[in-house]
Amino acid sequence: MFDMNKVEEYEIILKQVDAIISDESDVIANMANISALLFESLNDVNWVGFYRVISEELVLGPFQGKVACIRIPLGKGVCGTAVTEAKTLRIADVHHFSGHIACDANSNSEIVIPITVNNKIIAILDVDSPNYDRFDEDDQTGLENIINAFQNIMIKHGVLN
Ligand code: SME
Repeated sequence: MFDMNKVEEYEIILKQVDAIISDESDVIANMANISALLFESLNDVNWVGFYRVISEELVLGPFQGKVACIRIPLGKGVCGTAVTEAKTLRIADVHHFSGHIACDANSNSEIVIPITVNNKIIAILDVDSPNYDRFDEDDQTGLENIINAFQNIMIKHGVLN
């Protein structure tokens, strides 16, 4: 990213996300553009994408990075655990997370953020890095703000409710 602090960088990305998705009601198209924007904006990430909750499973959605596993049972891996625990998971070393699912062998740390609408988790955002401990509290807040904006815009369009 540019030569500014991380909080400012996320504020810029949030404005870009808002500009890109605010007039578009298609959830998949918006997930595709958010993953592309994050992948090109964030340093040291090798996978950015969404999984959607469909029939008690996570199913691969729009993403940037290497080919990934398609279906993850709820409660499995970092992604499935973020759903059952209903909270953001920031994993400094994925090799020490019991049940981690290695889609890209280069991934060493990971953050997973649930997307919640009306108290129901409908998808997750997953960001992976080849660096250990890549994601700190500022990343978590920045990404959660982006996901929050996404949820609100989709609710406004009446797509997620
Ligand atoms: N590592 C994730 C699986 C998804 S991939 O990283 C894209 C997990 O343990 O749930």
